[in-house]
Amino acid sequence: MELRIDTFKSYQTAYLKSIESPQLFWSEIASAFEWFAPHQQTFNGSMEEGNIRWFDGGKLNITINALDRHLESKGNDPAIIWEPNDPDDLNETISYKQLHQRVCAFGSALRSCGIEKGDRVILYMPMTPELAIAVLACARIGAVHSVVFAGFSAQALADRIQDAQAKMVITADESRRGGKTIPLKSVVDAALTSCPSIEKVIVQRVTGSACPMESERDIWMHEFLAASKDSNCPPEIMEAEDPLFILYTSGSTGKPKGVVHTTGGYMVYTAYSFANVFQYEPGDIYWCTADIGWITGHSYIIYGPLLNGATTLMFEGIPTYPDASRFWAVCEKYRVNQFYTAPTAIRSLMASGRKCVEKHDLSALKVLGTVGEPINEEAWHWYNEVVGKSNCPIVDTWWQTETGGIMISGLGNLSPTKPAHAGLPLPGIDPVLLDPEGNEITQPNIEGLLCIRSPWPSMIRTTYGDHERCLSTYFRPFPGYYFTGDGARKDELGMIRVIGRVDDVINVSGHRFGTAEIESAINQSEMAVESAVVGFDHEIKGQGIHAFVITEEPIPLHDQGAARARIIDSVEREIGKIARPDRIQFVAALPKTRSGKIMRRILRKVANGDFDGFGDTSTLLDPSVVESIVNNAKSLWFATN
Ligand code: WT7
Repeated sequence: MELRIDTFKSYQTAYLKSIESPQLFWSEIASAFEWFAPHQQTFNGSMEEGNIRWFDGGKLNITINALDRHLESKGNDPAIIWEPNDPDDLNETISYKQLHQRVCAFGSALRSCGIEKGDRVILYMPMTPELAIAVLACARIGAVHSVVFAGFSAQALADRIQDAQAKMVITADESRRGGKTIPLKSVVDAALTSCPSIEKVIVQRVTGSACPMESERDIWMHEFLAASKDSNCPPEIMEAEDPLFILYTSGSTGKPKGVVHTTGGYMVYTAYSFANVFQYEPGDIYWCTADIGWITGHSYIIYGPLLNGATTLMFEGIPTYPDASRFWAVCEKYRVNQFYTAPTAIRSLMASGRKCVEKHDLSALKVLGTVGEPINEEAWHWYNEVVGKSNCPIVDTWWQTETGGIMISGLGNLSPTKPAHAGLPLPGIDPVLLDPEGNEITQPNIEGLLCIRSPWPSMIRTTYGDHERCLSTYFRPFPGYYFTGDGARKDELGMIRVIGRVDDVINVSGHRFGTAEIESAINQSEMAVESAVVGFDHEIKGQGIHAFVITEEPIPLHDQGAARARIIDSVEREIGKIARPDRIQFVAALPKTRSGKIMRRILRKVANGDFDGFGDTSTLLDPSVVESIVNNAKSLWFATN
């Protein structure tokens, strides 16, 4: 069965069918894949209980579908094209045959190291082909991979290793990012002082710089691969609901949680959504610029494309190295047909001027995609006109780590598009807007809480080790619905505009952080007694981080620079550079209600430079706090703007 829909009319037909007969609809799509045993039930369980299961009874291995299945018809076609950080370094094209062989070799090396079905393996790696190979090798042998973005600190890495109780870490000596290198192995060493569950560390040699190895624990990747002579790696037979991976993501409270995705449903939905959103045709070159450390990389660099037998481009570097035309140079070099990136990258490249784009031949482009945060109209038009020459549809794809795949988006050139609107839901996806009481909003153009009414195959199954947290975050706020945490509007035609988070999550350059998580990192510095973090509108990053910090003693003006540096250090140590606050404002007190709750809406206004009209502040314990924060902010504001 062909996964791809090719007219708007067939989209409408598919959509109706998917809502009226979801079991039949998804059962037919599942039959496009290879299973060792077919499913007995398409899905079961209920949204109320938050216990949905997909394709029960089905047995499979996702790598059979992503690799083996293509060997006969496209064994010599490129599966992965790898573009290195430095344009003068050697690139790599890996055919399906070669990828299959390397995944099998890696998988059997993992097995000879004692990794078994269900074991957790942490990947803390640069964007090399070995990262994709390691992901697939885990899937081959049924190990649960958990990729940790290589920008996270030793502490953040340790938190994830401990939560997952992982047995192995796969890493590299260093990672190259633009003109810099990051010493990944030393970060791993620091993390492992508090991670007794780890038995082995596999280290890829990337830069070749000196890197201490602990002889009992650490193995060079090339030796690990050479030691395992057996390149035959029979696939582990997985139940549809066996976990495929854990990916940590931030929520509005506490430490990041491990989102668990399972095998059958994730496979079916990532393959289906990839084929349709990008309208991929055989021979196309598809490029997603995300890092595999995020869900976008999992679903739309690795699994979605490979399940479709597509050619997926993997880029090690950054958009601005060696200069701000790198993305377009790479598009030209490989004649990229589908290009998928984040609004924050578009905005920062926009600032470098259209010449960077215009000097490259982008005539192969057919579809442009964006993901990660709302795209503002200005960036949308620039993307459309300067990059797409008004000739490529923009697919504004809304989804989340928890949804596993794209939920709301145009499908290539089939669907109507509207700037700053994700648009219509994919077949099988049933989004609704709720008011705060949980009633469905049916009139157009009214903002509501975005929820999903029926189950879909790649939905989150649990948060690792804490199912209660999964229920209370996603399934209990509005019984019978999955709650996304986003606010949205629908127009008369049903096109959805996602406005942003309604919870205490901030989205900085498409990266998600909980305010509580950053506050706790700030409070770890001996400077801070208490803190409150909010997002503010940032021209490039979408949102910036503004931290209000109370210190034990007031800090004299001339010492504030040093104090800020210590707070920033603490955030870098606890989470990583990516979570660094843009602004730190020292305050004497925070606006709290009598019950001790911080009134964040006041802080949000202040952080956005909006200094009056605070509405009802009568529930504040001490309303004069607002005035002092505002005065203090004004002086800061005029000093920095
Ligand atoms: C949050 C999910 C899913 C891949 C990357 C981010 C925001 C994502 C869009 C979009 C408006 C978007 C939402 C969502 N978001 N895509 N096209 N338009 N907002 O994954 O880290 O799980 O974050 O990103 O707020 O809830 P994530």
